[in-house]
Amino acid sequence: MSETTTEKKKVIFSAIQPSGTITLGNYLGALRNWVSLQDEYNCIYAVADLHAITVRQEPKAFRQNILEAYALLLACGIDPEKSPFFIQSHVHTHAELAWILNCYTQFGELSRMTQFKDKSAKHADNVNAGLFTYPSLMAADILLYQADMVPVGVDQKQHLELTRNIAERFNGIYGSTFKIPEPYIAEVGSKVMSLQEPTKKMSKSDENVNAWVAVLDKPDVIMKKFKRAVTDSEAVVRVGEGKDGINNLIGIMSTVTGKTADEIAVEFEGKGYGDFKVAVAEAVIEVLRPIQERFSDYIANKDYLVEQYHKGAEFALRLSQRTLTKAMKKIGYLVG
Ligand code: TRP
Repeated sequence: MSETTTEKKKVIFSAIQPSGTITLGNYLGALRNWVSLQDEYNCIYAVADLHAITVRQEPKAFRQNILEAYALLLACGIDPEKSPFFIQSHVHTHAELAWILNCYTQFGELSRMTQFKDKSAKHADNVNAGLFTYPSLMAADILLYQADMVPVGVDQKQHLELTRNIAERFNGIYGSTFKIPEPYIAEVGSKVMSLQEPTKKMSKSDENVNAWVAVLDKPDVIMKKFKRAVTDSEAVVRVGEGKDGINNLIGIMSTVTGKTADEIAVEFEGKGYGDFKVAVAEAVIEVLRPIQERFSDYIANKDYLVEQYHKGAEFALRLSQRTLTKAMKKIGYLVG
């Protein structure tokens, strides 16, 4: 590919928090898309460890979770040769621009963020200022790389909308400084629901461990969780109203095999839910197997991981520093 076409590729930025467990929902809903976007776009990806301390972290587990998140994303197919991939806390421009953007973000705007409202209710003993200003840090992440697009799920849409407002406000005062990012809506997005309460999104914060499957769950655990999945009493494998459990299993099956819901319905005609659940579990196990194998290799090779995240951070710093310097000059800081 020639230099000019490379330059014209749109920039995509996204990040994921190192929360300890990456679920099948994260993989099928987001990470798989991140991987497939790598050829068509200039993708930049990060492990958002600065965001993670808005809730209390135990130091030893936190350190391990950051490294494991990095290794797991590589295992999922993030290719650092194509897509700069770094750890947020390694790149100091993020915290710096976040501070600046805090001063261009209104208290009222942050108060309206539904995630803040939810999280402050959930962690009522630790409603810290970071939890409140978290969206300005996320805005910094995105705006530093002049991202054209950000793949986001519904839960982050409001934060992206705020990012756009902050950027427009800043540009309005100082002239064009930040690219206004668009949401990237995946063509084949799949929202994976809880296996136990299929009207709710699959989430690792669910107390019922049978509600979610982790990307690193062992095959027998995956099988057990699918066998226990909630279904309905109709006993027909088809998409239908009031069949949230089966709809979810068909959705998962369709995403991992590439078959349509109709094809799946035909394939399992006359068969019971028991057979279907086993088939879904087997398909999921097969998709996760190579990821789990690669993860074991990466996590055993710390030197490689360190080399990659250093390289990613160096690249990210160079790129993001340009935007930070530009913004600081416009504000009137004595830059240089
Ligand atoms: N806040 C996001 C989440 O919790 C993670 C994140 C941090 C992010 N910075 C970002 C996502 C920038 C997209 C773009 O899921």
